[in-house]
Amino acid sequence: MKILVTGGLGFIGSNFIRYFLRRYPRGAVVNLDKQTYSGNPANLRDLAEERRYRWVKADIADADAVDKCMRGTDAVVHFAAESHVDRSILDAAPFLQTNVIGTQVLLDAALRHEVGRFVHVSTDEVYGSVAKGHSTEKDPLLPNSPYAASKAASDLLVRSYIVTHKLPAVVTRASNNFGPYQYPEKAMPLLITNLLDDIPFPLYGDGLNVRDWLYVLDHARAIDVVLRHGQVGEIYNVGGSFSCNNRELVRRIRTLMGKPESLIKRVPDRPGHDRRYALDCSKLRRLGWRPETDFRRALADTIGWYRTHESWWRPLKRKLGFKTYYKKQYAGRS
Ligand code: NAD
Ligand code: DAU
Repeated sequence: MKILVTGGLGFIGSNFIRYFLRRYPRGAVVNLDKQTYSGNPANLRDLAEERRYRWVKADIADADAVDKCMRGTDAVVHFAAESHVDRSILDAAPFLQTNVIGTQVLLDAALRHEVGRFVHVSTDEVYGSVAKGHSTEKDPLLPNSPYAASKAASDLLVRSYIVTHKLPAVVTRASNNFGPYQYPEKAMPLLITNLLDDIPFPLYGDGLNVRDWLYVLDHARAIDVVLRHGQVGEIYNVGGSFSCNNRELVRRIRTLMGKPESLIKRVPDRPGHDRRYALDCSKLRRLGWRPETDFRRALADTIGWYRTHESWWRPLKRKLGFKTYYKKQYAGRS
């Protein structure tokens, strides 16, 4: 099976590609990735000699480039996106361009090339904040950040191509991923790498916002299950095995790392900060998937990975782009 993966230089895409090529010795991957600030060739350096893998540096909104990559493809797994909520609050434009227009360009190419399956990777954030209970795939979309709104728009676009053009597509909606190769702007890698350097972690608001934590390899397995067994036109929630508020997450990580509470600094809240996400994943479980990773072990492994991979994250945090963003994001918040 030859698949086109978009956004494969990013956190989840790179973990998925490595998983897919290991699992399917006859599988091949073309990775279409523009290499934005979060796209990092080092994430797949171990595949440099792999003949079943090829990276094409291009924008998913570039119709000609997409057309070339789509040729001879059996299936598409679409990860490419602007993915950080805080950045979407600072500037929504790239989110609409990539997440909405980019998705439309891919969908049109998939139709032209009669691709057998299109997996659109979305997020639990499209449901908005859930005060109690769990979101099911039938729940209304109530996105609250520009990022979430752009993902909801792309989900609806995919739906329209399924209904109108009979595109054989499926949508997945996952919770907060964690694990190796996550760009250190996101809460967990920012917390771990700041603590390794004894730099304070900025905890937003009262820290009581609840997130569901999904180990990235459990997510990769879920995408694979949906790719092979998901029903065309269906949506599948993908949640992890552990959920807690940010205060509790920070306490666990800090304790595992032996760091003092004084390194956690309360800062003003993220505007529009969703209070709680929670997913009902029974539909995907009926396809035989469940999160297999023990959260406590995966958390310790993840801390260990960042501890032993300083050569991966230090250059990213040293870059001017990261420093400028960090300053802008946290200016006046401490
Ligand atoms: P990421 O920011 O780490 O990676 C995004 C990748 O997309 C990068 O490699 C980047 O270079 C590429 N990209 C961005 N714009 C592009 C464009 N115009 N053309 C081509 N490539 C482009 O993101 P991630 O955390 O790996 O998320 C991947 C997908 O999963 C996203 O669609 C995101 O919405 C979704 N998702 C993420 C999470 C999470 O917790 N991180 C949870 C649920 C869903
Ligand atoms: O739920 C799935 C989503 O999870 C994905 O769709 C997004 O792509 C991904 O970025 C993630 O969004 P969140 O906003 O939940 O993740 P983030 O890591 O930015 O923040 C996690 C929680 O930690 C959130 O409640 C905000 C808080 N936070 C975050 C940062 C960066 C802080 O308290 N301080 C911080 O510095």
